[in-house]
Amino acid sequence: MSRVTDANLPTSELIDNFRNAMRHVAATVYAVTTQVDGERFGILATAVSSLSFDPPSLLVCVNQTASLHDPLAQAETFGINVLGLGNRNVAEHFQKPLPTDRFAEGDWQDWHGVPVLASAQSSLICRTAHRHEFGTHSIFVGTLEAAKHRDNATPLTYYDRHYIDISEAPEKARKL
Ligand SMILES: Cc1cc2nc3c(=O)[nH]c(=O)nc-3n(C[C@H](O)[C@H](O)[C@H](O)COP(=O)(O)O)c2cc1C
Repeated sequence: MSRVTDANLPTSELIDNFRNAMRHVAATVYAVTTQVDGERFGILATAVSSLSFDPPSLLVCVNQTASLHDPLAQAETFGINVLGLGNRNVAEHFQKPLPTDRFAEGDWQDWHGVPVLASAQSSLICRTAHRHEFGTHSIFVGTLEAAKHRDNATPLTYYDRHYIDISEAPEKARKL
């Protein structure tokens, strides 16, 4: 059944319908990380996007209440780790309440002064170029400093509040 919503609805209903609409958007899961004064910070995020090729750049939207937010605003560089199916334990660990516990799972290494997951599907190092506050979030724009990837891509995907496996999707998509 389709559900129509518009700005004349009470805010709570509009937000509910927004949540439900976004629930059915399949999104790749990222671990966004940074390091300040030797301390590592990170959150799971899906609000990550490539921005432009000239200059090569990305953006990430971070809640201003997240433990990563202020360190990210302070740091000059940050890491975008694209998680694969094999990194599900890391994703679950990143949901731990204490930010310091988050790096206990997985092979985290220092790359360009940023924590990078060696087993991630890909990792991108960005230099913060711009920060824009909007509502509850800040949009961090970063220009690319370094990137590496694996060829056997099996992205960890979030859909309808669950992790799903879309690794068969490219094969099936060609058959359409
Ligand atoms: C699948 C998934 C995607 C998320 N995406 C984002 C996101 O894009 N931006 C964001 O600020 N928080 C996102 N969150 C929430 C953060 O991971 C984190 O739980 C929240 O910011 C609280 O962080 P803190 O405990 O470090 O303060 C996401 C959580 C999950 C489980």
